[in-house]
Amino acid sequence: MNKDHPENGKKIIVSGARPSGRLHLGNYIGALQKWIELQDEYSCYYFVADWHALTTGYRESREIGENSREMVLDWLSVGLDPERSVLFRQSEIKEHAELFLLLAMITPIAWLERCPTFKEQLRELEGKEINNYGFLGYPLLQAADILAYRARAVPVGEDQLPHLEITREVARRFNHIYGRVLPEPEPLLGRYTLLPGIDSRKMSKSYDNYIALSDPPETVKKKVSLMITDPQRERRRDPGRPEVCTVYRFQEIFNPPEIERIQSDCRSAGMGCVQCKELLGRGLVEMLAPIHEQRRRLEEKPGYVEEVLHTGEERARKAARATLDAVRGAMGI
Ligand code: TRP
Ligand code: SF4
Repeated sequence: MNKDHPENGKKIIVSGARPSGRLHLGNYIGALQKWIELQDEYSCYYFVADWHALTTGYRESREIGENSREMVLDWLSVGLDPERSVLFRQSEIKEHAELFLLLAMITPIAWLERCPTFKEQLRELEGKEINNYGFLGYPLLQAADILAYRARAVPVGEDQLPHLEITREVARRFNHIYGRVLPEPEPLLGRYTLLPGIDSRKMSKSYDNYIALSDPPETVKKKVSLMITDPQRERRRDPGRPEVCTVYRFQEIFNPPEIERIQSDCRSAGMGCVQCKELLGRGLVEMLAPIHEQRRRLEEKPGYVEEVLHTGEERARKAARATLDAVRGAMGI
């Protein structure tokens, strides 16, 4: 048996997402697809980072429960498998908070203050009163999330690399002071980092430019029809430039078998944008159909999401408790 994971000998993966409610295609391409793949090979712990949501959204605390539930429903609809993966809410595993506190004792404030995401968010969310202690500690709470399961790898987007670096530094410092207990986790970067939204900026809830996984077919088609194409292609007979077109970016990701033809028909003006969008819209609707079907099935089972989470939380708690026993043991407390 492998010492990494006494249950099944597989390497441990941990990742989390702040509860943003219903997910969109950008979340799917950016993270979820990778999470689903990893289930085949690793022992995966995926959680709702509901405490992290409080760091910037403490005034909207009442929305967190419902947003978590909706997000988990989407996770289950796209194929996260509660039999294979441990799905849970961060706030149910108090060991994250205990480890956060213990690690706080050995973490220099400067490591957190110099974190690029901290500086950036302070600037971006100016006027939102987030210059709080908990917000400064965001990456350290993330470190605790990861180290509580002694994860070997963490699938994340590029924007999270500074947090992974802090996690590794904190683990190293802990091991140096108290002896080797916490492995340093590696980041696992996804294939596609960014999906544009229908306005060609990054797809994001806050820009209201997204296509939700649960959007009905008519909404998906409507949103695709509104997508920004090549702005210089004013008339049907003008040749287009796929490299500047949002629709083309989507075709590359969601319709690879036809991409050569789309590219040449666009350049030769053999195909119009309306037609190109119809093709994409149909493809997306087809891709989303089984996801909608699964969502409907799960919505019909009352209490299902809660049950999945409770089971996951028992499993997560057990794993995190074992780590905290080792941590306290190493510290002699
Ligand atoms: N900070 C991550 C994000 O915004 C969410 C997160 C919290 C996370 N804890 C984590 C991701 C632990 C990976 C591992 O996306
Ligand atoms: Fe974009 Fe398609 Fe129009 Fe070309 S034909 S500009 S790829 S929408």
